[in-house]
Amino acid sequence: MRLIQISDTHVSANHRFFAENLEATTRWLRSQQAPVFVHTGDLGMDAAGQEVDLHASRDWLAGLGAPTLCVPGNHDVGDRSEINPRQPVNDERLRLWRDAIGPDRWVVDREGWRLIGLNAMLLGTGHQEEDIQYAWFDEALATELPVAIFLHKPLFIDAPDEAPRGYWPVAPQPRQRLFASMRRARVKLVASGHLHMHRQQTVDGISYVWCPASSFVCGESQEELGGERRLGAVVHDFGADTVSSRFVRPEGLDDLLIEPFARVLFPR
Ligand SMILES: [Fe+2]
Ligand SMILES: [Fe+2]
Repeated sequence: MRLIQISDTHVSANHRFFAENLEATTRWLRSQQAPVFVHTGDLGMDAAGQEVDLHASRDWLAGLGAPTLCVPGNHDVGDRSEINPRQPVNDERLRLWRDAIGPDRWVVDREGWRLIGLNAMLLGTGHQEEDIQYAWFDEALATELPVAIFLHKPLFIDAPDEAPRGYWPVAPQPRQRLFASMRRARVKLVASGHLHMHRQQTVDGISYVWCPASSFVCGESQEELGGERRLGAVVHDFGADTVSSRFVRPEGLDDLLIEPFARVLFPR
């Protein structure tokens, strides 16, 4: 089984700053004739703040020629209030996402694998759905099948037991809660987005893959995290019990930096 993962398309209804990268990604996805794609969040540029971006994202997905399994990012449904007090994850943002895009967490069994999509944006929020998702995750992991997990934020940057790292990864407490559940299953892959970087590393038998963005890379506004700042996608090839993942670079991408546009996009 082959799965193509993309991330951080940041589809916008209001500007065309990264539109050529989105168009290059779209052309490439259509040429793949895949039965399904996976998108690990930040589908929209400001879908957590403007419904037009959520709807532009929905319309873009409809033109890919295959269904897409999506999990939301911070630009889609908001974040923990201490990270983004202006756009906290709340019932209304979750409802808008589900109405426009579909479920924010999912389990799909395909060709001998269990694929799990997690809503990373609930983690550490204290929102009532955070605990519901943990219970759901435990049930989803009750399987003999090998498991691949997809979520927006990486579980960690350098090490599974690292101290808080702020904006970029899942916070330590929810991370340890997820790990406690994962230890009871045959998890082989954890694939994320959010960092706008590519990196792959194997820790304790699990392959951790950072899928690059399709829109822009970060420059000086992002600290050194150890990944490669390039646009692209990831192709995952699943065997009977193993998965191999590789970076791919659709033709026509331009590694645009976010910083020249940040003042327009994020005026506050
Ligand atoms: Fe992003
Ligand atoms: Fe993000």
